[in-house]
Parts: sequence; C-alpha cells; structure tokens
Amino acid sequence: MEREKVLLTEEQIKRQLDFCKKVSALLEDRPNRLAKVETFGCQQNVADGQRMMGMLQEMGFGFTEDEKQADVIVINTCAIRDHAEQRIYGLLGALTHAKKAKPEQVICLCGCMAQQQRVADKVKNSYRHVDLVFGPQAMWKFPELLHGVYQRHRRIFSIEDEHGTIAEGLPVVREGNVKAWVSIMYGCNNFCSYCIVPYVRGRERSRDAAEVVKECRELIESGVKEITLLGQNVNSYGKDLPEEMDFADLLAKINEIPGDYLIRFMTSHPKDASRKLLETMARSEHVAKQLHLPVQSGNNRVLKEMNRRYTRESYLELVRYARELMPEIALTSDIIIGFPGETEAEAMDTVSLVEEVRYDALFTFIYSPRPGTPAAKMPDPFTRAEKQVWFDRLLDAQNRISAEKHASFVGQSLRVLIDGVEEDSRWNLSSRTTGGRLVHLSGEESLVGKYCRVKITDSNTWAMFGEVEEILG
Ligand code: 5AD
Ligand code: SF4
Repeated sequence: MEREKVLLTEEQIKRQLDFCKKVSALLEDRPNRLAKVETFGCQQNVADGQRMMGMLQEMGFGFTEDEKQADVIVINTCAIRDHAEQRIYGLLGALTHAKKAKPEQVICLCGCMAQQQRVADKVKNSYRHVDLVFGPQAMWKFPELLHGVYQRHRRIFSIEDEHGTIAEGLPVVREGNVKAWVSIMYGCNNFCSYCIVPYVRGRERSRDAAEVVKECRELIESGVKEITLLGQNVNSYGKDLPEEMDFADLLAKINEIPGDYLIRFMTSHPKDASRKLLETMARSEHVAKQLHLPVQSGNNRVLKEMNRRYTRESYLELVRYARELMPEIALTSDIIIGFPGETEAEAMDTVSLVEEVRYDALFTFIYSPRPGTPAAKMPDPFTRAEKQVWFDRLLDAQNRISAEKHASFVGQSLRVLIDGVEEDSRWNLSSRTTGGRLVHLSGEESLVGKYCRVKITDSNTWAMFGEVEEILG
C-alpha cells in the first residue's frame, strides 16, 4: 500500500472544512440547529463519533439527546455481532416517528454496519427515511456527503471499499476533559476467521508518530490526565511507516512528554505483543500497568481455526513474562464461546485458561456468525442452549476470580484518578486505579479530574468501594 494514497492531503481536508461552511450557509435560516450523534460499539467508534461531532460543530450545529428536536441524527453503528445489528434496525424503525413529526430531519447511518453492501441494500429498500449511509472508510468526507443530501434533496449511499485513509486535522468534540481517546492506527490485517472488522475497516495504516505525539502533548498540556491509544491491533503499529518505528518505540516517545498523566492502550494482539513492548511498559512511568490481551480461546485447535496464530502455551508464556516484569499488572481479555465446531471439552479448556491466568476482568461473547467471514461457512453443530451452559460456566469462574481479586485489595491504599460523577447518592464518584480497576467513592464533585490516594473499604464482583485519604493533585 503506497503511503501517499493513504494520507489525505491538506487540500482534501480543507475541502471538507469548506463543505462545513457550505452546509452552514445552506442552513442559515436555522440558527439553532441541533444534531444528535449516537454511538454504539468499541472505543474506536466512540473516537469516530467525536470526530463527527467536531465536523457537525464546524457546520454550526449544537447537540441534543432528543431525537425529536434534532435536525440531523447520526447513528454510528457496530457490526461485531448480530445482536448489535438487530438493535440498530429496531432503532431505525423507531425513528420513523421522529421524521414524520419533523420531515426536514436528516437521518445518517454510519460506522461498521453501514460499510456492508447487504445492510446498505436493506436500508435502501426498507428504511426509506434514512437519508445518508456511509462506512468508516468514508467518514472523513461526512461534510461533503451531508452537503450533497441538503443540496440535492436525495439519498446518498457511500460505501465503496476504498483502500483506507488517514485524515489529520479534522475537528473533534471530546467528552469531558479528564480522559481522551487517540487513534494511532486504523484497520486490521489479521482476518481472524470469525471477525468482520477487516472487511469494514480496511487495511492497517498507522498515523505518523509525530502527529500522535503532538496530539498527546496538546491533550496533556490542556489538562487531560489519561489517554487511551486506540487501534484494532496496536502491536502492528509502524509496520507501514517509512521510518523504523514500532508500538513500543511510540510508547517510549509519548512517555517523554512531561506532566502528570497515564497512557493506556488497546487492543494488543497476542501474536505480536513483543517482549520489547512489555519491557517498555515496565520502565515507562506514564504507561499504566494494564494490558488488554484478548485470548479468544484456550484450546489450540480452536485458536488455529480462528486464525489467531498463537498457542495456549505461547500466550501463557507472554502473561508469565508480563507478570515477572510488572507483578501488579491488571490483565483483561476477550473470549468467544461457541466458535463453530468447538466442543464442550474445548470450551472448558478456555475456562481452565481463565482459571490459570486469573484475569482482572473479561469481555465474554457467544459466537455470532458474520456473513462474509470464513467462520460463517463452517459447520456449527452445537445449539445456542448448549453454548449458553458453557458460557455461564465461564462467567461463574470469572465472577468468582474478580470478586476474590477485588476483596484482596480491602484495607489497602491505592492511587486512583477520579473520573466521573454517578447518580448513586451513597457513592457519587467513580474512579479508576492505575490498573484500570473501578473504585466507587463519595466526596465533592470538584474532585473529578484529580488523582487521590484512597483506602479500599469494601468490594464486590464488579468494583471496589473506598474513602478518599489524600488528594494528590
Ligand atoms: N462473534 C462473537 N464475538 C466476536 N468478537 C469479534 N467477532 C465476533 C463474533 N463474530 C469479539 C472478539 C473481539 C471482540 C471485540 O469481539 O472477542 O476481541
Ligand atoms: Fe477482528 Fe482479529 Fe482484527 Fe481483532 S485482530 S479486529 S478480532 S480480525
């Protein structure tokens, strides 16, 4: 892939910013225009949603949660499992009412689900109130597409499979000023046999290190305390860059930025999580000792069928080395139960791996066939009910481990970042430890954004509870 084709030029970006002005001019009779952006799915989607909000703000839109008031509704979708897609169809169906009451409303469907031809066809024929459909690969030209809808009064579908681009300099609206997401790369080349992501997000492409470091520096200087670096597989970072630069090098560079902050990242593919990465994490003071390392399965046959390209043994060795270097490291993982042909014994290998690793938390899924992926064509002899039983065993094991881990912190003092206000009157603040563990607290709302030392007083399966001992700033 030639890099020049991937990096959008300044003119291309400027053209989109000009389209923002044109949309603004077209809508000048609606000075109080509002948009609603609703995002589903992963953090990458959240980051994309924030960019779309940035572009909408540039077009003069304010924001609302109420679809009845919105002039533009953007639904930023996820395609990872069928359940996610069904939810979106339900939501789209319900929006017919909002649109009937406000016929000039523009409804946009974007994100991973929208990149698929079969979805676009269904929307074209059965959801005629949807005006604009575009996938993640066309997101950078959202202003131009929206302008087209307003100017030509017709529906637009933009889901061509492009080679994938990197757009620098698009505006962004970030939520809050304590935490921020920074994409370091886009796309995925791994083609795990169950996964739709490589088909909808295109090939891997890395942002220039200088751009990433600049964005992180600006965020830290503006007071952001935690940055999560995002990529479908951050460990592939740099493979397509002209200079010698891998993800560990990038982390080390970001770590040099002065300030009081933490860097997290996700997701790491175990096949190329290197010793160098773990060593860099261990010696970088700003890098949180937290690793999301999705294993998917604990059985070697299933891992091979999944096209994961590592073994149970090599995975466990990675975990062992990470803990040798960083005994306090918090480990999390994604797991799929019920991959086509997986037997009960093979699913139990996954449960035994979970028992062996003792993760801090797990994201667990029952396999969902995605049309167009190799796994969707494999024989799938076990029923949903059988898979559910195995799944529940996995959950029981992890819940017990999480509860034990949380209980082991009771009585200890931990450093946390207070990151939000909650509705609960008893525990009105939420915070996270360096390892990303959730601690509920009570205290002044002005503590949000501050690092504190807290004493852990209680715990359950999901979280810990504590008292603020000292404000660290
Ligand atoms: N079915 C179930 N879970 C899936 N994931 C990805 N594709 C599927 C699928 N078809 C899970 C994987 C991945 C996480 C983001 O979603 O565990 O790591
Ligand atoms: Fe999907 Fe595998 Fe790529 Fe993750 S690494 S996005 S699971 S194909």
